[in-house]
Amino acid sequence: MIDTLDDLDVEGTTVGVRVDINSPIADDGSLADDARLRAHVDTLSELLERGGRVAVLAHQGRPGGDDFGSLSPHADRLSDLLGRPVDYVDATFSQAARDAVRSLDDGDCVVLENTRFYSEEYMEFDPDRAARTQLVANLAPVLDAYVNDAFAAAHRSQPSLVGFPTVVPGYAGRVMESELDVLGSIEETPEPRIYVLGGAKVPDSIDVAWSVLEKDLADHILTAGVVANVFLIADGVDLGDASSDFIYEQGYWDEIDRASDLLDAYGDRIALPRDVAVDRDDSRHELGVNALPPQEGEAAMDIGSSTLAYYERLLEDAGTVILNGPAGVFEDDRFELGTRRLYGAATGVPTSIVGGGDTASALRRLGVEGFSHVSTGGGAALQMLTADQLPAVSALERPGDAASDLDNGH
Ligand code: 3PG
Ligand code: MG
Repeated sequence: MIDTLDDLDVEGTTVGVRVDINSPIADDGSLADDARLRAHVDTLSELLERGGRVAVLAHQGRPGGDDFGSLSPHADRLSDLLGRPVDYVDATFSQAARDAVRSLDDGDCVVLENTRFYSEEYMEFDPDRAARTQLVANLAPVLDAYVNDAFAAAHRSQPSLVGFPTVVPGYAGRVMESELDVLGSIEETPEPRIYVLGGAKVPDSIDVAWSVLEKDLADHILTAGVVANVFLIADGVDLGDASSDFIYEQGYWDEIDRASDLLDAYGDRIALPRDVAVDRDDSRHELGVNALPPQEGEAAMDIGSSTLAYYERLLEDAGTVILNGPAGVFEDDRFELGTRRLYGAATGVPTSIVGGGDTASALRRLGVEGFSHVSTGGGAALQMLTADQLPAVSALERPGDAASDLDNGH
C-alpha cells in the first residue's frame, strides 16, 4: 500500500519532492530537452496550489560525466513551466539549504542543488542505512513529508530515493502513481501481447525477455537495435567485425550465450531481423541476412525493410505492444527508418506502452505520437517489466498502513 498526494494534507506542509529531471545538457550548459521537467509539472503545481512548501530534490548526470552539473538551469525552466517564481540554492543539506527550506511560505518552491554533488548519493544503501547518510540525516528534520515522483530513478537505492521515507511520511507523486498503475498491471492488458526490445541495453532486455516468456506474458518478442544484433549472432549469423567489435567493447559478449539459450527455449516466439541496413558509400544499403557478412568495416545500423514488413504484420493483430529502445541509430537520418516505422506501426495497436526516456524524446523528434502510455523511465521501466520491485517504490510501502486498511475492510 502506497500513499499518494490524495492522502497528504498539503497546506502549510514542508514537502521534499524527489523528481527525475536528469536531462541532456547542451555544450553551453543549458538544458537540451525539458521533457522530464514537464512530466513533473502536475505534481509540483498541485502541491503548490494546495499550499505546500516545496523543496525539490534531484540529480543531474553522474560524477565525471559531461552532463554532471548544477540544477540552476532546471530551476529557471521549472519557473517558466510552472508560471511562478522558483528559487534555487546552491546547497543540498547544509545550513544554507535548511535555511532556504525553513524560509518557504505556503505555495513557495525552491530547487536544492544536485544530490549527486555529495558522494553518498552515488552509492546504494538499504533504506535504514540510507536514512543515516548526511543528506537524509541533515535535511529530514526540516521536512514534514517526502514525495517521490522520480519513477525514472526508482531502480536506484540511493539516499534521496530510499532514505527519506523511513524517517518522514512518504507519498508517491502523480508521475510515480501513473507509472506504477500502467507498468504494474501489464498482465491485464489485451492479448496477443508483443514486446519490442531494441536499443543497446542488452543485458536488461534479455532479462525482460526471459521473465515475460517464462511467465507466458509475451506472445511474440520482436528484436531490434543492438539487442537484435546479439540475437542474430547467437543464431549463427555473421554480422561482420564492426558489429561484433561493438558488442564486445560494450562488454556484452556473454549475452550471446544467454540469447542462444533463450532461442533454444522460446525460439518460436522470438522474431529476428530478416535484413539489416549498413552504411555503404555514405548511404543506407540494405542486406538480407543470407547476404551477410557485410563488407569490411560495415556495421548493422538499423533493421531493414523486409524486417519492418514482417514486424508490421505481427503488430496488426496485437492487442498490446510494449516497446523499449530504438530499432537503429535513429540519430542518423539514414538509419531512422526502422524506429520511425516500427514505433509508427505500434501506435495502431489498441494498447501501446513505450519505455525509456531517451526513446521518448527521439519519438517526439521523429513526430511519432499517439501511444497509450509513454514512460518517463528507461532502466526503471525495464526493471518493472521483469516484475522486480523497484527499491524506491518498496521504500514507500507502508506495511503498517496496509494491515490497518485491511482490518478496516478497505
Ligand atoms: C536516468 O536518466 O536513467 C535516471 O535519471 C537515472 O540516472 P542514472 O542512470 O544515472 O542512475
Ligand atoms: Mg540511466
